[in-house]
Amino acid sequence: MIRLQVEWERSGGADGLYTVRAPGALTAGLWWADGAGPLPDWTAFAFLPIDPSGRGAFRYTGGRAAPREATHILVRALTPDMATAEEALVPLPSRRPAPPVEGVRLGFVTDLHLSDKPWQAGRALAVAGAGNAVLCAGDMVNDGSPEQFELLWQLIESRLPPDTPLLAVAGNHDFPIRPDAGEDFYALQARLLDRAERLGLAVERDESGAWAAGLGDVDVIGLNAAIPGRKLAFRREGQLPWLDEHLTDTPAAWHVVLCHAPLLAHNPQRRRAGDMPYFSRDGQLQEILEAHRNILFLSGHTHISMNCPAGCVETDRERSILYVNGGSVRATALKPEEPLRPKEWTDGNMLWLDLAPGRAEITAVSLASGKRIARGYYRFDEEEDRRFS
Ligand SMILES: [Fe+2]
Ligand SMILES: [Fe+2]
Repeated sequence: MIRLQVEWERSGGADGLYTVRAPGALTAGLWWADGAGPLPDWTAFAFLPIDPSGRGAFRYTGGRAAPREATHILVRALTPDMATAEEALVPLPSRRPAPPVEGVRLGFVTDLHLSDKPWQAGRALAVAGAGNAVLCAGDMVNDGSPEQFELLWQLIESRLPPDTPLLAVAGNHDFPIRPDAGEDFYALQARLLDRAERLGLAVERDESGAWAAGLGDVDVIGLNAAIPGRKLAFRREGQLPWLDEHLTDTPAAWHVVLCHAPLLAHNPQRRRAGDMPYFSRDGQLQEILEAHRNILFLSGHTHISMNCPAGCVETDRERSILYVNGGSVRATALKPEEPLRPKEWTDGNMLWLDLAPGRAEITAVSLASGKRIARGYYRFDEEEDRRFS
């Protein structure tokens, strides 16, 4: 007889202590489910060892949400000879169902590292292209060569719907190692902004190298924090003062800020004393963001799996600022490693960002299987937060 007990930490969230009792079992897995069984297109959110007394425990951390269609949790336990699996469907306590976020849907892809094998990058663009726009936080190509940018443009033309804008900022790999060689990224960026303008977006290009593009009540901002020589830094002085001014002057339901590397204070690789920021002016950028509200800060660069226990989305609820480190289109790394985990937890991923005033939903999707990543699902609702705080 399998039993599951959950002590949730926060109403509507998934964080908490999940204790399984499965006498005679070796391991157990946990999936979100409804009355009929596991939700078919979601990955498992935990695998845990069961000790000889029949007990196992999993502490869910990182601020994820439960899928709105989940009414149960499926526990599946496996015996030591791997011959028998036993299952139990455990009902969730009834919760007020969260309504879907209907507004702007953005597809987010980062760290494509396109070299000569275009399959994964092409699939990422094709999947994300179903949204209102595609955003990329850099490392689109692997070595910053003209050939790679040419191949990327071919993919954009063949795999991205012709009416879906693609907005991108530079990553360190969008430049060759030699600082005096290859600035093809800037030509690509100009081409992408021209294309977005032709598709009806209001584009602002600042001489500092930063830009903004309006998409309904969503304001997308590009910061170029990588420079020739494959370094992480702001090329010109003006990007951050421009950002401060732009955030002050531009009314928007959400300001979506694209920047290749995460900020030190919201780094999914847990912080240790003495950690260095990824780029110069990290503190200055952090200060500017905290002086404003309703910001979704999107980064890549780390290639950390959305399944990492600490979580890849951090929320400053007081200011309605979400810091998202979005995994990568290339295979990701699970840090720290977990003894029991399926390979699909480190497949390449994309994100759906569903945005409406005061609300946001972030859903990570595996590019290999098309499944939604249970540990890559977050919801933010300003009003709901006020009610529970
Ligand atoms: Fe990268
Ligand atoms: Fe990078």
